[in-house]
Amino acid sequence: MKRIAVIAGDGIGKEVIPQALMVMQAAGADLALTHFDWGADRYLADKITVPPDGFAALARDFDAILVGAFGDPRVPSNIHAKEILLGMRCKMDLYANVRPVRLLDASLCPLKGVEPKDLDFVVIRENTEGVYGDLGGVFKRGTPDEVAIQEDVNTRKGVERIIRYAFEYCASHRKLDDSNVNGSPRQRVLMCDKSNAMTHAGSLWQRVFKEVAAEYPHQIETQHMYVDALCTQMVRDPRGLDVIVTNNMFGDIITDLAAGLQGGLGMAASGNLRPGHASLGQIGMFEPVHGSAPPIAGKNIANPFGAILTAAMMLAHLGMSGEAQKIEAAVLEAVRQKKTTQDIGGTLGTREAGEWVAERVSHR
Ligand code: NAD
Ligand code: IPM
Ligand code: MN
Repeated sequence: MKRIAVIAGDGIGKEVIPQALMVMQAAGADLALTHFDWGADRYLADKITVPPDGFAALARDFDAILVGAFGDPRVPSNIHAKEILLGMRCKMDLYANVRPVRLLDASLCPLKGVEPKDLDFVVIRENTEGVYGDLGGVFKRGTPDEVAIQEDVNTRKGVERIIRYAFEYCASHRKLDDSNVNGSPRQRVLMCDKSNAMTHAGSLWQRVFKEVAAEYPHQIETQHMYVDALCTQMVRDPRGLDVIVTNNMFGDIITDLAAGLQGGLGMAASGNLRPGHASLGQIGMFEPVHGSAPPIAGKNIANPFGAILTAAMMLAHLGMSGEAQKIEAAVLEAVRQKKTTQDIGGTLGTREAGEWVAERVSHR
C-alpha cells in the first residue's frame, strides 16, 4: 500500500486528476489517497496557500504527491501557485524535474514523417534554482526610471547534482519506443544553455558538465547546444535527441515546445524528484506539464491523458511498473482508436476519455 497525497488544484486540474485516479484504481494499484484542497478556492476563502507544517507533513506522511495544476484568474498575483507548486519543488528539494517526451502515434506529431521511434527523449530540468528563486527587486517603481532586476542563481551544488542525475538517468534508462519491446539503451546527454550570452552561469554549467562527463568516459556520449539552436533542432529533426539537461527556465520553455511535438500540452507528463536524498526519503511529486487552462476549465473538454500518463509515471516510480505499463498501453490504444478528446482529434469529453482508458485497463 502506497500513500498518495492528491492536490487537484485549479481549473482543469480538478477535471483531469479524477480521471487519473479512476484509471489507477482500474489498474488495481494499491493506494491510500488523501485529498488536499490547496489551490485558488481555498486561498480565496481563508488566504491560506500552504497550511503551517504543510510541506513537512507531505514529506513525512506520503510516498508520492499527485498534482493537477495551479492558476486562477481570480488570483492575478498567482501567489498561491507560487507558494504551493514552486514551494513543493523548492522546499521539499525536488531538484530534478523529469519530463519525458514520447510520441504515442505519428498522427499526433505536427512534423512530417516523424514516427514514434523518432521521438523518445527526456528533459531533465533543474527545478530549484535559476530565475525561479525570485531574487532581485524593483527600484524607482512606477517612474520612468524604474529598474527591475531578476537574478539567475546557479550554485555549484545545484548544477552538479542535476547534471550528475542526467548521466545516471542516461546510464540506467532505456528508450521506450514500441518498435523495440525492450528499448535500446540511452546513449547521450546533451547539455543546453545560453553560455554565449549568460557567461557567468554558462561557465559554471560548462565546467561542471565536462567534469561529470569525465566520470562516464566510454559509456555516455556528450553534446552541447545553445538553447536557441536546440529549439530549431527540436522542430527540424528531433531524432537524435536522447537525454537533455538544462536549467529551470530553459527546461520550462523547451518542455512546452516538446509537448507540441507529442500532440500538445494535454499529452505531456512529468515527475519532480529528489534522487539521492537517502536521509529525507525519495518522495516525488508528479504533475502533468500543462497548466490550469482557465478558458476550457469546467467544460469537460480538457485532455486527461497527460494526467493519466503522469499517474503511470508515479506508479512506476513507486515500483508498480506492471500497473504503469497497463495504463500506458491503454492510453496508446485510445490514441490509436481515436477515443480521445478533441485537441488530439477525437470526439470524447474528459470523463468519457478517462472512462474508456479505465475500462480498457480493467480488462488487461
Ligand atoms: P496552459 O497549459 O494552462 O494552457 C496553454 C494552452 O494549452 C491553452 O490553449 C489550453 O487550453 C491548452 N491546454 C492545456 N492543457 C490542456 C489539456 N489538458 N487539454 C487540452 N488543452 C489543454 O498554460 P497557460 O494558459 O499559459 O496558463 C494558464 C494558467 O496555468 C496560468 O495561471 C499559469 O501560471 C498556470 N500554469 C500552471 C502550471 C502548473 O500548475 N503546473 C503549469 C503551466 C501553467
Ligand atoms: C510548469 C509551469 C510552472 C513553471 C509555472 C506555473 C510557475 O509552467 O510547471 O511548467 O514555470 O515551472
Ligand atoms: Mn511550464
